[in-house]
Amino acid sequence: MKTLIIFSSRDGQTREISAAIASEIKHIQHCDVVNILHAGHVDWENYDRVLIGASIRYGHFHPALAKFVAANLPALRERVSGFFSVNLTARKPEKRTPQTNAYTRKFLLSTPWEPDCCAVFAGALRYPRYSWFDRIMIQFIMRMTGGETNASKEVEYTDWQQVRRFAQDFSALPGKTH
Ligand SMILES: Cc1cc2nc3c(=O)[nH]c(=O)nc-3n(C[C@H](O)[C@H](O)[C@H](O)COP(=O)(O)O)c2cc1C
Repeated sequence: MKTLIIFSSRDGQTREISAAIASEIKHIQHCDVVNILHAGHVDWENYDRVLIGASIRYGHFHPALAKFVAANLPALRERVSGFFSVNLTARKPEKRTPQTNAYTRKFLLSTPWEPDCCAVFAGALRYPRYSWFDRIMIQFIMRMTGGETNASKEVEYTDWQQVRRFAQDFSALPGKTH
């Protein structure tokens, strides 16, 4: 049996985190990593574990996240499952847990899915890659919240050790029989 990692990513950071998790657990279990936008039909009989990761943009997860969960709820419930979110609020360690990260807490309260484990990872700030509008908006948010405002900078806040630890914790969860 295999682990399925589904990611929702706009600028690539959640995809990179998903790949890092897959490489951390691949010696224990084979992993498939799939973009949520291409995950129309999943052959669930191939998978006994599933992990979903999604990033935040302007306060929201991509609508594909809620859609995927609603369409696959029984399969998610029957398997060992985990969720992680990626955002810049989590660059502050005190906002990097499912309870203290507002986006994550809100999602977990609103979804009927109860993942077996959850994490929040800090994402990346990559001004030069953003459109003019996004750059101005993010700069404004960073100014309001005491973050990096130099628009020529790329900063990766992701704690890769935290990512690897989460991958190990997820793969160590006991299996479910279904
Ligand atoms: C246009 C835009 C809007 C964003 N909005 C938020 C936000 O509302 N809250 C937040 O914490 N992070 C926000 N971020 C930061 C992203 O969540 C962060 O860059 C993350 O690494 C993106 O992951 P991805 O590359 O997988 O999409 C925003 C980033 C961009 C480019």
